[in-house]
Amino acid sequence: MPLLDFQKVERRFPVKRSLADMLARRRQVYLHAVRGVDLTVQRGEILGIVGESGCGKSTLARIGVGLQPSNGGQVIFDGKALDGPDRTGRLQMVFQDPYSSLNPRMTIGAQLEEVVAHYRSGLSRAERQVEVERVLAEVSLVTETALKFPHALSGGQRQRVSIARALCADPQVLVADEPVSALDASVQAQIINLLKSLNREKGLTIVFISHDMNVVRYLCDRVAVMYLGEIVELRDSADLFAAPCHPYTRALIAAVPDVRTSQALREPITGEIPDPFAVLPGCRFAPRCPLAEAACQSPQPMQPLEGGGLARCWKTARVRA
Ligand SMILES: Nc1ncnc2c1ncn2[C@@H]1O[C@H](COP(=O)(O)OP(=O)(O)OP(=O)(O)O)[C@@H](O)[C@H]1O
Ligand SMILES: [Mg+2]
Repeated sequence: MPLLDFQKVERRFPVKRSLADMLARRRQVYLHAVRGVDLTVQRGEILGIVGESGCGKSTLARIGVGLQPSNGGQVIFDGKALDGPDRTGRLQMVFQDPYSSLNPRMTIGAQLEEVVAHYRSGLSRAERQVEVERVLAEVSLVTETALKFPHALSGGQRQRVSIARALCADPQVLVADEPVSALDASVQAQIINLLKSLNREKGLTIVFISHDMNVVRYLCDRVAVMYLGEIVELRDSADLFAAPCHPYTRALIAAVPDVRTSQALREPITGEIPDPFAVLPGCRFAPRCPLAEAACQSPQPMQPLEGGGLARCWKTARVRA
């Protein structure tokens, strides 16, 4: 049984209407941010979600931890439908900007202790402090960090604190939304290695959202590629990088300077910037796809691939018999 199971998850946002729209009684327009996403997260894995800005990664992540409702489909967590915010602390999220998610007027120790107290009310003050020290050590911060305020820490230390805060709830799943995008390369590497060791040593299940294909390749066991609200490819990471299937995935990988791909895979993205409002019955990538032809205008299901995984392209998928 998967630990987290997205089933046909939908999210539409009503687009603000102008007074003129209302007077003319134009009907409400919706931006369809997440379109019928089916995705499972297995216990103990690191699942990457990649795709360009606006494709719906954060929206999907927020729905997955119960921070935002979906308006269609459901999320099953550990066998039970998630309805509303998770109150057990077992689903935790870490964001790109740790500064804005920490309280500037409280010491790190007080903030962490608050989380421990919230989720484990049976502990004494002394037991809570022991727990805070243990969690600080787990993210490789010295005990004295507890006495500091957020402004006294570096960006990397602050991100460690926000991971520590998530760990204080003793989570089963950590959803990290671009957790290293705002950090220097060397600090990024440390945080990535911290996430990897939390996964390998504690068995923490991680959903890792990123734009950075190199980081995803290094960290993730499996990768979901999103394009305009849909998953277009879902593969084991090694397979995805060795032989990307969907033309959009190929373009994403070809655009990375450090990833060595064969010349045959180099098909740069052409055509227009994606329009989230476009109504396309078929493949949503078709307007930019070098391989597109008339048949791409009909709906594209995810196809099971020969070597495992799924891709939403009838032209490139070598389908499992
Ligand atoms: N609260 C909201 N109200 C209206 N539209 C929204 C809202 N949140 C997100 N959207 C829209 O939904 C789409 C998906 O947004 P989302 O933030 O999930 O994308 P993302 O993949 O996380 O992008 P990025 O890489 O820039 O973080 C975008 O077009 C965005 O403008
Ligand atoms: Mg985002």
